[in-house]
Amino acid sequence: MSEKINSLAIKSSEITPKQGYLSRRDFIKAAGVMAGSVALAACAPQNSSPAAQVLSTPQDATIGKKVDELGNTVNSFDDITHYNNFYEFTEDKAGVAPLAAKFKTSPWDVEVYGMVNNAKKYTLEDLIKKFQPEERIYRLRCVEAWSMVIPWVGFPLAKLLKEVDPTSAAKYVRFETVTRPDELPGEKNSMYPWPYQEGLRLDEAMNDLVILATGMYGGELPAQNGGGMRLVVPWKYGFKSIKSVVKIELLDQQPATMWSTISSSEYGFYSNVNPQVDHPRWSQATERRIGELQRRDTLMFNGYAEQVAHLYDGMDLKTNY
Ligand code: MTE
Repeated sequence: MSEKINSLAIKSSEITPKQGYLSRRDFIKAAGVMAGSVALAACAPQNSSPAAQVLSTPQDATIGKKVDELGNTVNSFDDITHYNNFYEFTEDKAGVAPLAAKFKTSPWDVEVYGMVNNAKKYTLEDLIKKFQPEERIYRLRCVEAWSMVIPWVGFPLAKLLKEVDPTSAAKYVRFETVTRPDELPGEKNSMYPWPYQEGLRLDEAMNDLVILATGMYGGELPAQNGGGMRLVVPWKYGFKSIKSVVKIELLDQQPATMWSTISSSEYGFYSNVNPQVDHPRWSQATERRIGELQRRDTLMFNGYAEQVAHLYDGMDLKTNY
């Protein structure tokens, strides 16, 4: 698949200088091919909401006034549900919500298997009953240099991993998104190496910040945000937080991931938010919070250094990007 992508011709009109990525306000088609690879778009929010309002309102309207531990106000429900990266639907951020309206998030089953002593298939109801999701307000920093603050509802992945009991050989966790091309039209686009998959080192996966989100804004998890259930890893670029997860596999080797398969020089396995390591085509030093005009400085590990920096002691974060 990556060979196919690499063989696509590059039009000079598609090449945008680095400065252009930082300042332009229009949406750049994410499938634009540059330097032999498919690019996540560097972008700014669209100004208008799509005509179709496809979601029910959040259950708790007061959530919009909440703040994270750094005092950042949560983004509006409308921003969070209408500005989405979800390539299985479409590469158009505003186009995800209308398409997601028809996506069935119930019933939702998740299989946990591989190097574990208690492999098991769970229904979403099982997981919610067993692990009692709680609210977690996290910053989400996209590799495209925009960010949001999102009030997730979820439970620590560590709780689930402890229950399935990884064997001593297990070192990595692989996550896979549902394959349903009839409901997810993007999965018919053979330019991408579907299914979307992601991975974490087992010790990263066990960190208490990592959650499986089953809800958002006090209600269900909207399909465009990854319902039935999605991973949230707040110190890593947003593409690590894989949506609509149906498979979780424990492995002894580092798994392939969707974006590093497409372009390993641009999207590494670790993908920790790091203002000192630029994307090859744009700076990661600052970001644009959706709903704000001024850019703000990007924080090391997206502001979660205290909880996670120890995971990378002794590692060169420039080469392990
Ligand atoms: N998961 C799947 N399966 N497909 C995707 O296209 N996009 C990723 C991530 N998870 C993506 C995905 C990217 S690039 C980002 S920034 C976040 O989801 C966006 O999450 P949000 O739409 O809930 O804000």
